[in-house]
Amino acid sequence: MKKIVRHGAGAALLLDLPKMQQMAAEIVKAVKIPVTAKTRLGWTESDKPIVEAAQRLQDAGIAALAIHGRTRDQLYTGKADWALIGEVKNHPKIQIPIIGNGDIISAQKARYFLDKTGVDALMIGRGAIGRPWLFREVKHYFETGELMPQPNVAEVVEILKEQIRLNLEWKENEFAGILMLRRHFAKYFPGLPNFRELKIKLLLAENACEVHEILETIVEVYGTYQPDYLNASL
Ligand SMILES: Cc1cc2nc3c(=O)[nH]c(=O)nc-3n(C[C@H](O)[C@H](O)[C@H](O)COP(=O)(O)O)c2cc1C
Repeated sequence: MKKIVRHGAGAALLLDLPKMQQMAAEIVKAVKIPVTAKTRLGWTESDKPIVEAAQRLQDAGIAALAIHGRTRDQLYTGKADWALIGEVKNHPKIQIPIIGNGDIISAQKARYFLDKTGVDALMIGRGAIGRPWLFREVKHYFETGELMPQPNVAEVVEILKEQIRLNLEWKENEFAGILMLRRHFAKYFPGLPNFRELKIKLLLAENACEVHEILETIVEVYGTYQPDYLNASL
């Protein structure tokens, strides 16, 4: 994000690998717990120094590296470049665990990216927004080779209620919690027909009680409907 990189932080460190390495080394020296790092592939399409960055971070004592397979210029456009993530993972000089990240939106995608690259772990971001059961889906698929059935709206609402409960427990006040939850609400209900009015109500609700009332209505109207999470946009 602009507000981060304009201070030379975040992805901007990809423009100054010696500085990235030095900072990482200082952090490793300063703490007693393992230090991990996460970065993108590079700044622009023509400048993707991720292999060198990984080596430098490894030399700095970083214990594991997560790689988001995009450049800074891409922000969230285009596709994550898992081939390059795989190159880092399989580079003869890289020994630290590599965590692959970018565009894992289904159990099959997780399987595909893992098999393609051999990374040591997968990191899921946007795919879990409005679909926090994705982790369970991936685990289930890896363990059994079978896809979990997709939940219907009534089941999804139960999961959302749990997220609301946890979020409100964690946030300092109810309104702050509701504000944070707003970005998640619509993601829970992709493609519901004629949902606009209820969606707007949900996004305008100012306290948990209002949210719960709207959720009850959603269950009454759409309870048995099965949203198409596999084709929902991120
Ligand atoms: C709302 C939001 C906040 C994020 N915040 C951070 C962050 O603070 N640090 C970071 O390294 N990545 C952050 N990311 C990027 C994600 O960790 C991840 O690298 C990126 O979304 C690509 O993975 P995905 O395709 O699974 O979403 C954020 C992403 C989103 C959508």
